[in-house]
Order: sequence, then structure tokens, then C-alpha cells
Amino acid sequence: MDELNIPGKIPRQIRKWTCHKLECLSDYIQAYAKRLGKTNCCYLELYAGCGSCVCKGTDCRIDDSELRALKAKPKFAKYIFVVRNRQNAENLKRLTTPYNTDNIEVIIGDCNNEKVIRQLFDLIPRSASSFALIDPIGYRKVHWSTIKQLASHGADWKGNKIDLLIFFPLEMALLRNLTRPECQASITRLYGNQQWEEIKQDKLSDKIELDEVRTRLVELFKAGLRGLGYNYVEDFKPVWLSRQPFYHLILASDSDTGAKILKDAWGKSRYLRCELFHDEESKSRRPSKK
Ligand SMILES: C[S@@+](CC[C@H](N)C(=O)[O-])C[C@H]1O[C@@H](n2cnc3c(N)ncnc32)[C@H](O)[C@@H]1O
Repeated sequence: MDELNIPGKIPRQIRKWTCHKLECLSDYIQAYAKRLGKTNCCYLELYAGCGSCVCKGTDCRIDDSELRALKAKPKFAKYIFVVRNRQNAENLKRLTTPYNTDNIEVIIGDCNNEKVIRQLFDLIPRSASSFALIDPIGYRKVHWSTIKQLASHGADWKGNKIDLLIFFPLEMALLRNLTRPECQASITRLYGNQQWEEIKQDKLSDKIELDEVRTRLVELFKAGLRGLGYNYVEDFKPVWLSRQPFYHLILASDSDTGAKILKDAWGKSRYLRCELFHDEESKSRRPSKK
């Protein structure tokens, strides 16, 4: 069955910036897998999608993060995806069938739910290293308690905690809702404490510019990750040509190499395939110089 015929939100509709994000992610995962070499590392994704997306405007069909992770070589020892509903799970399972399905696990449920987290941990072999991608829609579904549990899951044989790569929804979500009374509880849930309210107060009293608000919101989250015992906590602002990127990248790891890979993947301006084709088309329409 063609997934376009499945009712609901499959394939997921995305905009160009998400396509850009996924292209960068492919490079990151590939570089990460290469750095690991042949190990017993597990790939975890807490907010997994249905396997494919369609770009609004261009109708390009592109792979979701899960398929991109599956394409990286050398392969991870295991892939564990937490998806929100059965429909996404079914589509994801169908699209991952051509890959080695023996080591792909799809968990259906809320990734912040205790039982779901337990299920996830039960699937990670003892002393295996793990990489977790946290790619939520907005910040409301992100609970600090979940991040804390990931960090406190047993260390691998080298003593390293689970590597975390977080797409921190700064611009579109957190910044926009920072001063809204109805969003206070969810922001506290995201940070796991109320210290962010100082930033809100400074913003409301015009003590700080927007750029400082951004920096402090990211720094506060990073401080929380350091408090969980991570040796390396880095952030990176993706290169954006025209405006502020919608998300910010935050990485927490006990090893130092992830940050360099991050800069390589997200630190250069890149053109999407559709933009290149567009460019080629417009070039071919231009009269040639004689
Ligand atoms: C931004 S999308 C990311 C999808 C995928 N990582 C990608 O980019 O290809 C976020 C996904 O998280 C799922 N989601 C939302 N809340 C969730 C929750 N509490 N637990 C698990 N998944 C959730 C949504 O269904 C959506 O597919």
C-alpha cells in the first residue's frame, strides 16, 4: 500500500527547514556511526515519526530520521523507536522491513510514561552504549524527569552514560510562550525547576535583549544536563541564511568528539536537492551570454 493512501497524518507534512534538519542529521548520524566503528551501541529515538515525510510546497517525499539512522554505516547494534500511535508504528514497521528487522524495536506510547521508559531500558543490553535522539514537536511534550532517567540509566562498559542529542525547540516554541501564563507549568516541566522564571522576569522588565533571553534559556538547560553528571555539554546554533533557526542543538555526552561532528553537520550552509533543481531550472531559463 502506498503510504499516501493511509488516512491521518501519514506521511508527516514538513516544511523546508525540517528537510534541512534531516539532511544535517543524516551527516551527523553517519559521522557518529563511523566514529563508533563496530560496537554494541544502540540507537534510541524518543519522538520517532512514521518513517517518511512530504515537504509542503515541493511535494518531495523524504525519509524521516529513523530511516536515516538505519542507513548509517557501520550499523548500530539495535534501533529502538518510541512512536506516539499505532498508525505511525505500522507505517514505520512497513518502511523498515527492507532493513534487518531483527534488531529494530518499535514501542508505542508516550515516551515520558514510566512503563514506556522501562520497556525501552529493558531492550538495551547490559553495558551497551547508547545514543538517544530527542526530537520533539515543541517543548510541551519534553519532561525533565525523562531526560534525568535517560542519564541515570546504567553506564556502558566504558562508564559512559547515554549520549543525548536534543533538538531544543527554542525559537518557535519556548521563546514565543515564555511569558504566557498558560505555559508556565509546561516550561517548569521542561526544565525540572522554576529557575527559568528569572529569565522571564528579566525579559518582562526589559532588563535583557532577546538574544540574551535565548542564550540564558539554553544555558539553563545545559546547566541541568551538567548537573546530571555529563562531562561534555555543548550547544550549537544551526547555520541559517535568513533568520533565527527554529531549533537549537544541545548535546550531552561523556566523550568529547560529538561536538565536532555537530559543527561539521550543522555548521555549513547547504542547499536542498529541490533548491539545486530550482537553481538549475532558473539557470536553464536564463538567456545564455554570447
Ligand atoms: C518533530 S517529530 C520528529 C519525527 C522524527 N524524529 C523525524 O524528524 O523524522 C516528533 C514526533 O514525536 C511524536 N510524539 C509526540 N509526542 C510524543 C510522546 N509523548 N512520546 C512519543 N512520541 C511523541 C509525534 O507523533 C511526532 O511524530
